Amino acid sequence: MEILIIGTGYVGLVTGTCMAEMGHHVICLDINEEKVAQLNQGIIPIYEPGLHELLMRNVASGRLKFTSSYPQSLTDSKVCFLCVDTPVAADGSANLHQIRSASAAIGAHMSGDLLIVVKSTVPPGTASVVQKTVQEALDERGVLYGFDVVSNPEFLKEGNAVNDCLKPDRVVIGTNRAESSEIMKEIYAPFMLNHERLMIMDVASAEITKYASNIMLAARISLMNELAGICEKVGANIDKVRLGVGSDSRIGYQFLYAGAGYGGSCLPKDVKAMISFANGLGYNAEMLQSINRVNERQKHVIFGKMKAYFEKAGGLAGKTFAILGLSFKPDTDDLREASALVLIEELLKAGASVRLFDPVAMPAAKKAVPPGERVFYAKDEISAADGCDAIVLMTEWKQFRFLDFEKVSTVLKKMVFFDGRNQYSPDKMQKIGFDYISIGKKNAYADSLKKTETQIPVTP
Ligand SMILES: NC(=O)c1ccc[n+]([C@@H]2O[C@H](COP(=O)([O-])OP(=O)(O)OC[C@H]3O[C@@H](n4cnc5c(N)ncnc54)[C@H](O)[C@@H]3O)[C@@H](O)[C@H]2O)c1
Repeated sequence: MEILIIGTGYVGLVTGTCMAEMGHHVICLDINEEKVAQLNQGIIPIYEPGLHELLMRNVASGRLKFTSSYPQSLTDSKVCFLCVDTPVAADGSANLHQIRSASAAIGAHMSGDLLIVVKSTVPPGTASVVQKTVQEALDERGVLYGFDVVSNPEFLKEGNAVNDCLKPDRVVIGTNRAESSEIMKEIYAPFMLNHERLMIMDVASAEITKYASNIMLAARISLMNELAGICEKVGANIDKVRLGVGSDSRIGYQFLYAGAGYGGSCLPKDVKAMISFANGLGYNAEMLQSINRVNERQKHVIFGKMKAYFEKAGGLAGKTFAILGLSFKPDTDDLREASALVLIEELLKAGASVRLFDPVAMPAAKKAVPPGERVFYAKDEISAADGCDAIVLMTEWKQFRFLDFEKVSTVLKKMVFFDGRNQYSPDKMQKIGFDYISIGKKNAYADSLKKTETQIPVTP
């Protein structure tokens, strides 16, 4: 099938590439001309494991093309997927500016019947906004074309996006029209050879399903972070609690990790968007507000622990800290709402210096936090730790699991480790000689005398 993808970011680029891999003819359109030029030169503007090889193969086969021209790309397409960004607006609601703008462009340039599929995460009612905007543009041109708007929210995870897209857990389609669902079934047929995973429902339910999924995941994290705070109060260990709770088959182990808060382009914005949407309906979504509040608080927990630890050693000003991991989670270069950025800002404000390292997110990070007198980008973990008063782990990249502590201890000024992702065992870290401070567990001090001197308050 001839498919147009509008918006060539994490979702659009992966979706377009995977659709081409399944034999469809795909044009990926983006208003960012620099991005399109890069893609046409085989340069992928995002980090996503497995994407490069797949993309190059499909470009070479002629099934995948990139453009910034609406008129050209709409001529041949029968179906177009809207994959533009829907960022959080100042009031917390979903900003639909790009959805409206892309819909107006579709109406201004379509030259035949079209099925419009909304893949971006959008609040209930957005399909009608798209319908109205396209129709207005068609009316302005005085032309008559048939079109329908379908909801098809995306569930891929950055870092595993190619796999998620090629083998989706489920494909949710929101439509009331049989003709539209038949086209969607045809598009997704090659993805369902193993077994059927397509769910057809009404548009509003499909739109809400996406938010519900992210809210559920965010809720699990915030709940564990809340329990981690209680564990600290009583000297319990949140990791042990996680195992005890996760072993209940009704609950399971996924998304039960306490840490320095969730970030990314989806969870924070989608929770906020649903709070705002509910508010607009006069509905007070109390639980959603709590999920968000706990997460906002959690992003400051590590800074609080650092401040408390160094209080008796002259404070944070003038100290240097190695921050390992900058992206909001491993296997991506995405920094949107990353907890590391919140911590860096707080440390710089407190007068500290930072030495930063991330396996892939440093080019993106340099734009968000430019290198300077107190901001240094290191070439690896050891160089980041050089001369530092402590190491702070903020993203659980696999390569950080086995840090070369022997080398690290020769370059560190002080053997102090703040673990924002609970990656290490307190006992082992203590044995190596670290003062080890994590989340939801007792702090472990290398020197037991220090314990009374620098006991850290337990509340986040
Ligand atoms: N990133 C994820 O993990 C993920 C997962 C599931 C769903 N989503 C949702 O998918 C949507 C896209 O997310 P993303 O992370 O891919 O965003 P992104 O910011 O990476 O990409 C969006 C792209 O759309 C382009 N764009 C904006 N307006 C345009 C227009 N009028 N015409 C053509 N191109 C336009 C931008 O230039 C950009 O390249 C969002 O609604 C997001 O919530 C994201």
